[in-house]
Amino acid sequence: MEHERALSSGPRVTLLGKQGAGKGTQAGRVAAHYGVPHISTGDMLRAAAAAGTSFGRRAAEYMDAGDLVPDNVVIGVVAERLAEDDACGGFVLDGFPRTRSQAEELQLLLAPNDLEAAIDIDVPIPVVMRRLSGRRVCGVCGAIYHVDHPPKHKWTCDADGGEIIQRQDDHESAILRRLNLYEQEIGPLIGHYAGLGILRIVSGTGTVEEVLSRIIECIDDARRLPAR
Ligand code: AP5
Repeated sequence: MEHERALSSGPRVTLLGKQGAGKGTQAGRVAAHYGVPHISTGDMLRAAAAAGTSFGRRAAEYMDAGDLVPDNVVIGVVAERLAEDDACGGFVLDGFPRTRSQAEELQLLLAPNDLEAAIDIDVPIPVVMRRLSGRRVCGVCGAIYHVDHPPKHKWTCDADGGEIIQRQDDHESAILRRLNLYEQEIGPLIGHYAGLGILRIVSGTGTVEEVLSRIIECIDDARRLPAR
């Protein structure tokens, strides 16, 4: 019964992976596929920075340098978002958790349920460097493009006509700093999810559609297993 109830709502999953692995690109599509919200800590922090609040300005200092925003700040932002009604029936987390301590806090927040799958999108470093240096985003809605696949009108977003810009942290020194930090944090985080038996690894190379179908297959497969 418990298992049937869980399947009647949407999945509770997080997408992990290096900067540029395609978490944001895929999380929006996966969330739309299951009809659940896409919850991106990067997008929420950038929105706060753009709003110019004192919290947003502090977060921007960390983000622009390629550093992680302190755990207590990010956990507070995620806790508020997960408490909203639309997240009760499932969600796709993107960029959270980033550290083992964030993963442990998330487990407490979700108790007695936990994530059904933590999906690590695996992409080699030379590929992510190419993806990040060519990434462009909508300054209004955050839609993600690349110089190799720009919007129809090169400088405006297909969704809302917003200006297409380059992210402040997509310059070489911040990219390298973020990748180094990732290498330090990912081992304990992956170990945490492997220990819970919910870690899945999918290849993030190939077309966006190919990666999407691998992720959906993985989530459907994880949800067919009896609840732990
Ligand atoms: P965040 O926004 O989460 O950035 P990130 O982790 O650095 O990840 P990216 O957005 O760079 O990469 P992505 O994997 O989403 O790739 P994308 O889909 O865009 O975080 C930003 C900052 O916020 C952090 O540095 C930190 O300061 C702070 N922060 C956020 N969460 C935090 C947390 N939990 N704790 C502490 N601090 C936190 O794709 C990249 C490019 O590749 C795009 O151009 C895309 O079009 C292209 N692409 C994607 N897939 C493909 C494909 N299959 N083929 C070809 N091109 C592709």
